[in-house]
Amino acid sequence: ERKFYQFKLVLLGEYSAGKSSLALRFVKGQFHDDEESTIGAAFFTQTICLDDSTVRFQVWDTAGQEKYHSVAPLYYRGAQAAIVVYDITNQDTFGRAKTWVKELQRLALPNIVIALAGNKTDLANKRMVEHDEAQGYAEENGLLFMETSAKTAINVNNMFLAIAKKLQKN
Ligand code: GTP
Ligand code: MG
Repeated sequence: ERKFYQFKLVLLGEYSAGKSSLALRFVKGQFHDDEESTIGAAFFTQTICLDDSTVRFQVWDTAGQEKYHSVAPLYYRGAQAAIVVYDITNQDTFGRAKTWVKELQRLALPNIVIALAGNKTDLANKRMVEHDEAQGYAEENGLLFMETSAKTAINVNNMFLAIAKKLQKN
């Protein structure tokens, strides 16, 4: 018998890291070169099928600009999963990602599944954050880790799939 699960997932990270682009890729299979900066937050749903279950994600795509920081708890409160996004070509966004992880570990649900996404991996020639540095950080903090590209779709579905599988074990 197929089981049905529904999970609330929040996207967090510095502005321009690619949160909305990852959501757009996952939910609609699209990419926009001129994606506009998010105001407030946006909401999407997407359903995926695993071997013996169906998982619906309720995705909250938050706004990364600092002026929206104070409303972020509205979106991560009660979330079973979070994707913290940074841009591999921008070291500051990796630092900001670590700050989000700390905030989630302190204030979100204790068993929240957190994935760290090193996005824009298609821009490897401009890389500023090493894969192994981020992977080491993720391992130390018990995070799932993938380098993704919303542009080429690399690892986007894989990341949501890995989150769904980990959530089912929770
Ligand atoms: P805020 O809503 O301001 O917090 O930003 P965001 O994190 O939602 O970033 P957004 O998805 O709007 O992407 C910012 C810019 O980066 C846009 O021009 C996107 O087209 C571009 N972008 C996003 N993901 C990728 C990617 O994987 N590769 C490349 N090359 N560009 C990307
Ligand atoms: Mg956005």
